[in-house]
Amino acid sequence: MTEQTRPDTARAVAVHPPMAMLAELTHRCALSCPYCSNPLEMTRRDTELSAAAWADVFAQAAEIGVLQVHLSGGEPASRRDLEEIVASAHAVDLYTNLITSGIGLTEKRLDALEAAGLEHVQLSLQGVDAAMADHIGGYRGGFERKMAVAGWIGARGIPLTLNAVMHKLNLDRLPETIELALAMGARRLEVATVQFHGWAARNRAALMPTRAQAREASRIVREARARLRGTLVIDYVTADHHADYPKPCMGGWASTGLNVLPDGRVMPCHAAHTIPGLAFERAPARHLGEIWRDGPAFNAFRGFDWMQEPCRSCDRKGIDFGGCRCQAMAIAGDPAATDPVCVKSPLHARLVAEAEADAAQTGASLVYRTNPA
Ligand code: SF4
Ligand code: FES
Repeated sequence: MTEQTRPDTARAVAVHPPMAMLAELTHRCALSCPYCSNPLEMTRRDTELSAAAWADVFAQAAEIGVLQVHLSGGEPASRRDLEEIVASAHAVDLYTNLITSGIGLTEKRLDALEAAGLEHVQLSLQGVDAAMADHIGGYRGGFERKMAVAGWIGARGIPLTLNAVMHKLNLDRLPETIELALAMGARRLEVATVQFHGWAARNRAALMPTRAQAREASRIVREARARLRGTLVIDYVTADHHADYPKPCMGGWASTGLNVLPDGRVMPCHAAHTIPGLAFERAPARHLGEIWRDGPAFNAFRGFDWMQEPCRSCDRKGIDFGGCRCQAMAIAGDPAATDPVCVKSPLHARLVAEAEADAAQTGASLVYRTNPA
């Protein structure tokens, strides 16, 4: 797909080809993380797309310009046909990245996945030791298993990214997290502070970091980036409830990537289902290219014309695109509002006060994620 415009809008909006696709192969997972980003209503196993249907989706994705597919879940290794799915993505020249907790992978399966064309693994990390990791993941033995899987990945020379989800309970151990990433041979570390959408919102009191933790984490990341340049790339998703400006969520709505749910519904971001009134069409029955270009959900917040003040006249709108639509919906009750993380939002002071109240709480119990049938 080359760049196109939609002539049916008052001011035509440029539609560029998407670069990346997140393919949620299943919502089934052995872990029960309290910050799970899957929808509150998860897709049942009996409605998951078949491997053949995923092959059609990948062919359509490649046709419209997608370069990378992130095979995710739930736990994608829960699918017994994962190898077949990887092979079909590789066959149409998509760069294949497996996002996994490691549970369900064996040496034999890694060999088969590598033979099928797997090019990269992103392993999640719930903590730097078994006590923390197994407590957060709600799965005894998970940490030990993960360390074994990391060793198998390294032995095969498959590039590894570690995805460390950080929050009140483990942010003080960020230096150890960085050391562990180095010890595991990771080339990239994602320091991803919990985003309080969906299930994670139930665990704000347990997981919201303090402002002091967030500031110290930013300092540690800055120092580590300078010290480890050329050895480890560190991506950093900040604790946005303690920031002055929002993150450019998805790089701007429907601008660079799309998400496909296990049953084929296509969404502009992983939480778009929380915005009332958006309807999601299904691939491969409807071609991904038509959904990307013409789908009402994709055009709802594409470009800048949907913006209200203060975003509409703000000189940062090309930097952060008004922040996150799903967070605006969750906090302001209006998906076209300025993300309340922004200091210019009338709701910013309330957001900060509520975050600080949650961060000050101690000893709150975790509400673990439950899994679909
Ligand atoms: Fe970003 Fe809108 Fe805030 Fe400006 S007003 S910084 S565009 S969120
Ligand atoms: Fe949906 Fe940010 S998660 S726009």
